[in-house]
Amino acid sequence: TVRSWPVWKENTSADDLFSWLKDLKNSFQAQNKYNVTLIWKNMSAKLSQQELLCQLKTRVPLTMIKAGDGPFKGEDWQKYLPTEDLNKKFENLQRCAVVSSAGSLKNATLGAEIDDHDAVMRFNAAPTDGYSIDVGEKTSIRIINSQLVHDKQHNFLTNPLYQTGVLIVWDPAPYKQDLQHWYSNPDYSFFERYMEYRKKHPEQLFYIMNPVMQWNLWDIIQENSLEKIQRNPPSSGMQGIALMMSLCDEVNVYEFLPSKRQSDICYYYQQFNDRACTMGAYHPLMYEKNLVKRMNQGTDHDIFHYGRVTLPGFRNIDC
Ligand code: C5P
Repeated sequence: TVRSWPVWKENTSADDLFSWLKDLKNSFQAQNKYNVTLIWKNMSAKLSQQELLCQLKTRVPLTMIKAGDGPFKGEDWQKYLPTEDLNKKFENLQRCAVVSSAGSLKNATLGAEIDDHDAVMRFNAAPTDGYSIDVGEKTSIRIINSQLVHDKQHNFLTNPLYQTGVLIVWDPAPYKQDLQHWYSNPDYSFFERYMEYRKKHPEQLFYIMNPVMQWNLWDIIQENSLEKIQRNPPSSGMQGIALMMSLCDEVNVYEFLPSKRQSDICYYYQQFNDRACTMGAYHPLMYEKNLVKRMNQGTDHDIFHYGRVTLPGFRNIDC
């Protein structure tokens, strides 16, 4: 007999949320801060796993800002934007790990397993020091949001946490506007501090994500959801998953779909509780998780015990 494990359901709906979280979700949906113009329509036919993977592969290619793109021209950008392609730097990665920051990584003892991958991705302020038994110690790529770069309290320029691995920053941009429009209206102005960081740490690769990626990804999440989702960019976690699928043959994602350790603890590295961290408030996180559940090629057993989802890299998806 095949045992079934109580794990994330791919049709999780706003109706399953506490009413305060559902209200929060609906208010972000209504707000439309970034002027999303996609009109939602109820999908009659559900895409298969293969079709879904192909959507990601064909519509969310790896795109970093390069010197000369739109307003990113002139001497300074020429000097500070990396000239080397991200996929040149990470050629032929086989197995990659994406480590969410979820509280359910506390006591997960996944460190050795995570470090056994060719590359490991982490997010924002997620540390390894003091947590390596649970989350490992390798960091190959760290995705950070523009708020972290902008807000002084994070000490982004000097905190050694940010000085290992390749950095990639993203900022919530207006929906599918040209780069100039974003450049003059970033959600958090971070361009100057980006240059400052590059001046201080010229040896460390540090990319700016082209916002075309976040909104193409958002479209796919909305098109494949049964409800209207928050009209805000996908979470750092979801953006990172798509990015790693570009670089690697296989991607193991940890505690994005919660394991048996699921709790209301927000981050493994902090003490506060907030269910919104796992279910989403600003980000359409619940719908991201529904999608990842549908794309998972691993088992429910692995989700339940290890919080592990296994996704194929784009190279291994035939469309
Ligand atoms: O909050 P932050 O973006 O730094 O966390 C990294 C990522 O980990 C999130 O973008 C989200 O995808 C994931 N996460 C989660 N559940 C939590 C906390 C974080 O799925 N409780």
